[in-house]
Amino acid sequence: MQQLVINDVYIPHIENMSETQIFYGGAGSGKSRFLSQRPVIDVLENNRNYLVCRKVQNTIRKSVFNEIEGVIDDAGLRKYFSTNKSEMSITVKHNKNQILFAGLDNPLSLQGVRPKKGVITDLWVDEATETDRDDLKILSKRLRGGDNETKKRMVFSFNPIYQAHWLYDEYFSSIGWATDQAEYTTPELSILKTWYVHNRFLTSQDIDRLLNEKDEYYRNVYTYGNWGVLGDVIFTNWKVEDLSGMTDQFTNPRYGLDFGFASHPAGISVSHYDQTRKTIYIFDELYETGLTNDLLSIEALRLCKDGRIIGDSAEPKSIAEMQQHRVNITGAKKGKDSITFGIDWLKQQTIIIDKKCVNHIKEFQQYQWKKDANGNAVTPPKPVDKNNHLIDALRYAYEDEMEGGVWLFA
Ligand SMILES: Nc1ncnc2c1ncn2[C@@H]1O[C@H](COP(=O)(O)OP(=O)(O)OP(=O)(O)O)[C@@H](O)[C@H]1O
Ligand SMILES: [Mg+2]
Repeated sequence: MQQLVINDVYIPHIENMSETQIFYGGAGSGKSRFLSQRPVIDVLENNRNYLVCRKVQNTIRKSVFNEIEGVIDDAGLRKYFSTNKSEMSITVKHNKNQILFAGLDNPLSLQGVRPKKGVITDLWVDEATETDRDDLKILSKRLRGGDNETKKRMVFSFNPIYQAHWLYDEYFSSIGWATDQAEYTTPELSILKTWYVHNRFLTSQDIDRLLNEKDEYYRNVYTYGNWGVLGDVIFTNWKVEDLSGMTDQFTNPRYGLDFGFASHPAGISVSHYDQTRKTIYIFDELYETGLTNDLLSIEALRLCKDGRIIGDSAEPKSIAEMQQHRVNITGAKKGKDSITFGIDWLKQQTIIIDKKCVNHIKEFQQYQWKKDANGNAVTPPKPVDKNNHLIDALRYAYEDEMEGGVWLFA
């Protein structure tokens, strides 16, 4: 196991047996990597079975599944494992211990997951701020069963996006967590806070990007790993509901697209507009980095079929390429002050977001007005240019409605 290199701060946690474990902190601090290394060690040597979760099933393959596969390859351990890519299961050949995967948005798949032998002993939820409190109940149930000798563990990892989150309430408030605290350990609960200094595999470019972050909220959460205190959030006129039973009624669909590739994701926002009630129902999304226009076209056709998509007009070449793939896309017109105008219009609607659209939810939670160095709102008001990929896409999707409004009231 020599080749498996673990960042120092995590080494004491290889054998941490606290029932609930929290690994939180700044971006790129090595949380996901360590929590992908530990199952590999445990299934090989410690007779445990893992269930690795994220809120949304279809985000698993490209994140935690690939990460664990990467650990196995990098450590030269491939020969000990057999991987079933379509079922997403990783099995140790000689002892049949397993690492399995499931989305919390799919309770059936969660119930159906059974290791070849024994029971699930370890549960890890990455990006746990995407989950809600009810998910925790389902998860705890999933850990029941088996003998009482085997210690079970439930692990959450995340960036601390805002302090009003249920995870803070559930695990940090109750123990009187101090803002400058970095560790806590009891048999029931352990907490470890990490940030960029704890990951020696970050490049100096990665570190510079984190240190040069201008926005105070972002620096606090993503550079230093502190619990976020949201400033002046832009949208409060939205709520999350389970819309899965309503999609048949969504007969007035709107599609918007924001381009992105390496550091920014491409985003597609899919919603239904109830014009009479001025209510937008957001019920599907794409949010992914690394998609070429070919792949983005395939996703767009899957999500939007032949529906009209309004895309970011700053990329005419991308729009032309997607049109060649028979995607029904046109560029947004984007008039003067279109951002603030679009925000004002969206603020006059009621916005209901399906619970599976975690990236819309995250953007609506965090989209904020910009402040100057003294913490005062800038004039004229401007949003922080972050957490806006799907919100921009949504603005484009409703451009025609907004224009109608101008015409009506002009
Ligand atoms: N022990 C390690 N060996 C090799 N690479 C590592 C190791 N730890 C971290 N890295 C690399 O550093 C980068 C950041 O690590 P990781 O993704 O685990 O951070 P994170 O804390 O999960 O970040 P985020 O909060 O953004 O999810 C990744 O590219 C990861 O592969
Ligand atoms: Mg991570």
